[in-house]
Amino acid sequence: MTEKRQILVTNALPYANAALHLGHILEYTQTDVWVRFQRMRGHQCYYVSADDAHGTAIMLKADEKGISPEQHIADMRRIHEADFRDFHISVDNYHSTHSDENKQYAELIYNRLVENDHIAKREITQAFDAEKQLFLADRYIKGTCPKCKAEDQYGDNCEACGATYSPTDLINPVSVLSGTTPIEKQSTHYFFKLPEFTDFLKSWTRSGAVQTEVANKLGEWLDSGLQEWDISRDAPYFGFEIPNAPNKFFYVWLDAPIGYMASFKNLCDKENINFDQFWGADSSAELYHFIGKDIVNFHALFWPAMLTSANFRTPTKVCVHGFVTVNGKKMSKSRGTFINARCYLEHLNPEYLRYYYASKLTSSVEDIDLNLEDFIQKVNSDLVGKVVNIASRCAKFITKGNDGILSSTIADTALWEQVSGAGTVIAEHYENREFSKAIREIMAQADAANEYIAAKEPWKLNKDPSQHQQVQDICSLGINLFRLLLTYLKPVIPAMAEDGEAFLNDQLSWSSIEQPLTGHQINNFTPLLQRVDKEKVDAMVEASKQEVEQANQRVIEGPLADAPIADEINFNDFMKVDLRVARIVKAEAVEGADKLLALTLDIGGETRTVFSGIKSSYQASDLEGRLTVLVANLAPRKMRFGISEGMVLAAGDDDGIYLLAPDSGAQPGQRIT
Ligand code: 2FM
Ligand code: ZN
Repeated sequence: MTEKRQILVTNALPYANAALHLGHILEYTQTDVWVRFQRMRGHQCYYVSADDAHGTAIMLKADEKGISPEQHIADMRRIHEADFRDFHISVDNYHSTHSDENKQYAELIYNRLVENDHIAKREITQAFDAEKQLFLADRYIKGTCPKCKAEDQYGDNCEACGATYSPTDLINPVSVLSGTTPIEKQSTHYFFKLPEFTDFLKSWTRSGAVQTEVANKLGEWLDSGLQEWDISRDAPYFGFEIPNAPNKFFYVWLDAPIGYMASFKNLCDKENINFDQFWGADSSAELYHFIGKDIVNFHALFWPAMLTSANFRTPTKVCVHGFVTVNGKKMSKSRGTFINARCYLEHLNPEYLRYYYASKLTSSVEDIDLNLEDFIQKVNSDLVGKVVNIASRCAKFITKGNDGILSSTIADTALWEQVSGAGTVIAEHYENREFSKAIREIMAQADAANEYIAAKEPWKLNKDPSQHQQVQDICSLGINLFRLLLTYLKPVIPAMAEDGEAFLNDQLSWSSIEQPLTGHQINNFTPLLQRVDKEKVDAMVEASKQEVEQANQRVIEGPLADAPIADEINFNDFMKVDLRVARIVKAEAVEGADKLLALTLDIGGETRTVFSGIKSSYQASDLEGRLTVLVANLAPRKMRFGISEGMVLAAGDDDGIYLLAPDSGAQPGQRIT
C-alpha cells in the first residue's frame, strides 16, 4: 500500500433558495464516489459541504415567504441535508456560509487583501429600484433588446439574438421587482485587484490544477485581460458587513468558497483536527474542489488569487464536470424531466442513479445524459443481471449443500487472479475520475465470472452426488468473484455493498481483494437489489410534471397565510370578479395527479368542472353535496387532465386547506357580493 494521504474534498455549496435536483446529484455522486474510494484505499479523506446562504435572491425569497432570511435558510438546510443523507452522500460535515466560522475567515481574508493593497475602492453608477430601495443586479432588470428589439430580455444579454450589453442599454428597462423604471445611482464599491495575479494564474492554471480543456478556456480569459472584481454590495443585503465599511456587504461569491474553510473549521473544532495542516501556505495535504462548468471563474481565478494573497494554500485540483441533460435535452419542467432529488427518492432507489451516473462520468467537462430508457436497461442488466445474479446463482449450493462454509481451495486460480488483478486498473480509473472506465472494467470481469458459472453449470452437476465437492468449489469461487466485484462497486453503491457484507460475513476494503475467502462461513442470501420498475420511472416523471402544475396552481389558488397583503384595488376592480354559490355534485380523484380533485359544480342551471388542489385535505366523497364558492368568470385553464372552468375558493398553506362555504340556505348560482 502506498503512503497514507491527507485529503480534503468539497462539492459546490448549494444555494439555500431552492430544492436540489438531479443536476446537483450528479456532482454529489461524483464527489462522494471519489471520497469513498479514497477512504477504502486507507487514506485520510475529509469531505465537507454547506449551504450557500447569502445574497439578494435568498433575501427576496425569505421576503416572499414572509419569514426572516435566518428562518428561511434554516428550513432549506434541513431539506438539503435530508437529500444528501438519502442519496448516501457521506459528508463529514454540513455547515452554512451564514456561520461564525465563515464570518471569521471572510474578514480575515479580506483584511489580509487590504493589507497587501489588493483591494481598490471607487464610486460606480448602477441601476436602482427607487420603490424597493434596492440596487438591481442585471438579472433583476428586463427590457427590449437594443439590437434585435426582442421584448422581455434580461439586463445583461438577449436570449433571442445573443447580444451582450449593460442594463442601461436596454430599451424601456423595468425592475423585475417592482415594475418601475430603474434610475441610475452612484455608490462606493470595493474591488479585488485580480489583474495583479495574471502571471500567477497563467502558471497555476497550467500546473495540472484543472483539466486541459478548462485551462484552455481560462487561457482565453487570461489573454484577453482580467478585470478587477467587485466584491461588495449595498445594504439591504443578506450577508456579512465588510469591516470598516458600514452598510457595505461582501458579495455572496466572496464568502461562498470561504465556506469550504468554514465548514472544515467547524469539523476541526468538533473532532480536534489540525486546520492549518490542510489550509496553511505550506500544507502537504491535498485539497480538491468538485464543481460544475458554470462556476469555473470563481474557483480557478478569483479563489486561488485570494488564497495566495491571504497566505493560504491553493487547491490541488479543481475538478470540473458538465451539466445533466435528460433524454438528450435540457431538463424541462413541462416535460417532467426537471426532477427534484426528493421526487426521485420518493419513487426510486438512490443507488440506481448513483450507478448510472458513475457509468457515464469521465474526467472531462462533457454533459452527461440521463436517458431514462438506458437508465432502466443498464441498471437491470449490469447490477441485477450480472452482479447480483452471480451471488443468487451460487449462494444456495453453499448454504444448503455445505452449511454456508466456502471451499478451502480456489477452483480456477487464473480466473481468481484475473478478477483480483483488475483491481489495480480499476483503482487507477477511480483515482483519475474515469468512473465510466472503472465500471466498464468491473462489468467485463462480471461477464467473465458469469461465463465461468454458465460453462460449469453447477445446477446440473448438483444432481450427481459424486460431484458434490466440485459444485462447492465452483460456487465458492463464484461467491469470491462476487465479493471482488462488490468491493470494486462499493464506492458507487455503498448501501448494497453493506447488505452484501452482511451476506458475505466480511468487511470489504481495497486491501481485502488480495486474499479470497476460504473455509469461511457466509450467511443466507437475500436479494440485494430489485430491478428498476419502468412504471415507477414513469410515475416519477408524472409527479415532476405535477409538482410544476401544483406550484402554478398554488399561485393561482390563493396566498399563503403569512404572505403580505396584495396591492390595493378599487371597488370596480373587485366587482369584476363574479363569485357564485356552487354545489359540489361530484368529487373524484384525478388519475395521475396526487393533489387534485375533479369537482363537478352546479351553479344553478349550469354545470362546471373545476380541478382543485385540495385532495390532501378532503375525502372526495365527503365533499359531495357541500356548498362552496366559485370564481365563475375566470378564464378557463387548460390542464393536463382537462379544462378547469373556474376556481373554488379555499384558504390554506402547507399545513392544511380549508374550502370556503356559504351558510346553509344559500342557493347554487347566487351571486356573492
Ligand atoms: O452555483 C452555485 O450553486 C453556488 N451556490 C456554488 C457555490 S460554490 C462555493 F464557492 F461555495
Ligand atoms: Zn436581441
